[in-house]
Amino acid sequence: MSYAAAIGRRFGDGGAAGEGVADHELLQRVLSRKTVRRYSDAIPADGLLDVLVAAALSSSAKSDFQQASILRVDDPARRTAIGELFPSMPWIGVSPVFYVFLGDARRLQRIGELRGKPVRNGTLEGFFNASVDAALALQTMILCAESVGLGVCPISVIRNEVDKVAAILGLPDLVFPVAGLCLGYPQGEGHVSLRLPRGLTTHRDRYDDGRLTEAIDDYDRRRDAVHAIPKEQQRANAEFGEVPFYGWSEDKARQAAKAEGAAFPPYLRSHGFSFD
Ligand SMILES: Cc1cc2nc3c(=O)[nH]c(=O)nc-3n(C[C@H](O)[C@H](O)[C@H](O)COP(=O)(O)O)c2cc1C
Repeated sequence: MSYAAAIGRRFGDGGAAGEGVADHELLQRVLSRKTVRRYSDAIPADGLLDVLVAAALSSSAKSDFQQASILRVDDPARRTAIGELFPSMPWIGVSPVFYVFLGDARRLQRIGELRGKPVRNGTLEGFFNASVDAALALQTMILCAESVGLGVCPISVIRNEVDKVAAILGLPDLVFPVAGLCLGYPQGEGHVSLRLPRGLTTHRDRYDDGRLTEAIDDYDRRRDAVHAIPKEQQRANAEFGEVPFYGWSEDKARQAAKAEGAAFPPYLRSHGFSFD
């Protein structure tokens, strides 16, 4: 597929479409990537997984502090225990492979102790740096896995039950899950998800979201035309009522208004983070 076609499918915003740019397989793949939640029974070879983990840990790392850790959950009892916490997302318990990407602020603090230099890494800076490192490793794993024909789904819902997940995985203080990652060979096609128009998500020289209202309305309509949200997937109609047009922004506003993750801040505060 040409860049123009791939970018058109991704954004549908009539914007720049890579005219004259030489074909490159990675760019083509990324433009057409999609999350996969259903997998065949085939188990990816251990050697391939070793390479993917090495690639993920080759990501950039803030100050070379290297504060990401990757935990593979192999033990069937632990897989089942985590899966059972999230019955609405059955892929978590059954994907052929499941990793947890950890922000690891503990290692640097231990290295400080080792070298006799007191390090306090439960700060906001320590938390943020470790989170970013883990997120970069996660995304590197995603793109590399997809480039060899695997399908993946990041899983941040595990943070909603962070106390239980941390107990199952034996996480010490200052080590926290950023997201899990289901991985396997895709079953079925899925679809490329339309992104917000680049006029809204990119800026030049100066931030400007002055046209947000029109841009979101337009995006909602275009997204609805390619992939409408079915009535049975509308959120909290009992509370918010039914609306004549249920688009992406209505859905995301409802989702965000019912904020998840209440368990995460108290978990972090009681496991080494002061966020000073
Ligand atoms: C940090 C992060 C956490 C996510 N957590 C979940 C999750 O808990 N469950 C899930 O089914 N999908 C999860 N996703 C997948 C997103 O829903 C998906 O990326 C988004 O809908 C866009 O679709 P696309 O990746 O196919 O473009 C997560 C994605 C990211 C980046």
